[in-house]
Amino acid sequence: MALTTYNQVTVPSFMYGTAWKKDATARLVQLAVESGFTAIDTANQLIHYQEALVGEALQSLALKGVRRDALFLQSKFTSADGQDHRTPYDRDADLTIQVNQSFASSLQHLHTDYLDSYVLHAPFSRRGLGAADWEVWAAMEALYEAGKTRTIGVSNITAVQLTVLCQQAHVKPMMVQNRCFAVMAWDRQVREICRDHGIIYQGFSLLTANPDVLAEPEVRAIAQREGVGPAQVIFRFAMRVGMLPLTGTTNPQHMLEDLAAERVTLSSDEIQRIETMAL
Ligand SMILES: NC(=O)c1ccc[n+]([C@@H]2O[C@H](COP(=O)([O-])OP(=O)(O)OC[C@H]3O[C@@H](n4cnc5c(N)ncnc54)[C@H](OP(=O)(O)O)[C@@H]3O)[C@@H](O)[C@H]2O)c1
Repeated sequence: MALTTYNQVTVPSFMYGTAWKKDATARLVQLAVESGFTAIDTANQLIHYQEALVGEALQSLALKGVRRDALFLQSKFTSADGQDHRTPYDRDADLTIQVNQSFASSLQHLHTDYLDSYVLHAPFSRRGLGAADWEVWAAMEALYEAGKTRTIGVSNITAVQLTVLCQQAHVKPMMVQNRCFAVMAWDRQVREICRDHGIIYQGFSLLTANPDVLAEPEVRAIAQREGVGPAQVIFRFAMRVGMLPLTGTTNPQHMLEDLAAERVTLSSDEIQRIETMAL
């Protein structure tokens, strides 16, 4: 089942995340697409991602007949303080130029002339949004308005920041990507803002941030009943509360299991129970 953004872009219901795959990135992206993932998340940030190797996988897939328009490609602008000496733009240039250079370099890495989603990796400000955030957002809005990316989004954002962004941006984000902790009701406050504004909420680290939930007897019992693992229960829960989950698996079997999560049946009571399990 696909999701639709408020500007009518269709987005797959599960996304493959490419962080921390290092030299295995190309092989794993290829495997993920061959297993059935059609949405890929990366970032132009060499500390955590190998965007050029994602591009290498896309080239191999293209040779096997996988068309660019069959894939949903998402990358990110990471500010200079999230980069090392391999910063993919001139860090002394003004922020608008940094965004444009980073975006151009992402297109080059991914061998494409447009992105499906371009995400600000994190606001500069811890609280509220400052001048730097607005300058970067304006540069991203310009990329969107020029048709170079079909959607724009923001990651690692608080509820207060997202509220301000939605109120004051010329173009509201179509995507939010946040780490999802069960102890915070799976980021409920931010998810509710997303729902009110028609923004797609992407949840990451659903498994790694919540080992206690995966170990819960109730989750294990549901998994046993459904003939799946606890990870699939959590991914299905995420979908049922309206999220687009990311998985970072490196295991071919887990790729198939994660995609099969869509077939897990959960009752409304079970969804409510998992949502509040760690509170
Ligand atoms: N915007 C940001 O700042 C940000 C930050 C972090 C991550 N992300 C994005 O989110 C993606 C996912 O993050 P993540 O890696 O933390 O996600 P995750 O899916 O919560 O964690 C991956 C871990 O879960 C395990 N796993 C996955 N499916 C499983 C299954 N069916 N059964 C058992 N174990 C399973 C994996 O082990 P195996 O490898 O053995 O399957 C791996 O250890 C990243 O790749 C990145 O694209 C974004």
